[in-house]
Amino acid sequence: MSLGSRSLVPLLPHLGHGIGLRPPHYPRVLDGTARVDWFEVISENFMIRGGRPLDVLEKARALAPVVLHGVSMNLGGTDPLNDRHLDELAQLADRFEPAWVSEHLCWGAFGRHYAHDLLPLPYTDEALAHVAERVRRVQDRLGRRILVENVSSYLTFSHSTMAEWTFLGAVAETADCGILLDVNNIYVSAVNHGFAPTEYLAGLSRDRIGQVHLAGHSDAGTHLVDTHDHPVPSPVWALYREAVRRFGPVATLVEWDDRIPSFEEVVAEASRARAVEADVLGACRRRVHL
Ligand SMILES: [Fe+2]
Repeated sequence: MSLGSRSLVPLLPHLGHGIGLRPPHYPRVLDGTARVDWFEVISENFMIRGGRPLDVLEKARALAPVVLHGVSMNLGGTDPLNDRHLDELAQLADRFEPAWVSEHLCWGAFGRHYAHDLLPLPYTDEALAHVAERVRRVQDRLGRRILVENVSSYLTFSHSTMAEWTFLGAVAETADCGILLDVNNIYVSAVNHGFAPTEYLAGLSRDRIGQVHLAGHSDAGTHLVDTHDHPVPSPVWALYREAVRRFGPVATLVEWDDRIPSFEEVVAEASRARAVEADVLGACRRRVHL
């Protein structure tokens, strides 16, 4: 692993192995028994004036570092960026001082109609310039760099001119933002579109990767669906091992959004990620000393 002169790695601390904080586990935060390296929360769930969710976020922030993860900025869309959304996100970030703010590299609305889905972009120079400009505007408004996340997909555009990983890396370089690398999304898309998931990792530089996501998916027979309702499956663990081998230690987070098990079970997945990282890094160190 070598770092380029424009590496963001020194600016994006390894927070450890955290979990996405979801409502069934709010009581564990409120009673102070939620022990975890860090939390990621869905920004939109806290862009409100008051009430229990903000009390939860206040308490979570006192327990561990927090990252704000957005789902509806419509970064790749053609509607104007939503100023009110950005204002509310800026206020939330100013108040809770997250380790960073992230969003999805996708589109999800058109004509102010929201699809409630994270839809893929065509991977073209035109889309690259468009989305990079919007990321820059968001960063200017928030006064901070954001991380953009690769989404899973079920279709591709026939007029794409570059691989998804080339597009992701180029957006990060052009917009001067970071990357949230979702290893499960890479695996889901790789199976659905027939590319090698390791090729995706090989096409990215470590310099801009600030976080990794792990999650479970479902097999629909003809394709995989990014459901976040299962433990992390073995092929995703294998790809995570490869990511750690290639990129070294990166802040990692387990997402579990449906059929959410106990707090302990989600934390156990984060602990397994910690063990995988330690095992891979230990093996790398042993190889160096041989
Ligand atoms: Fe994700």
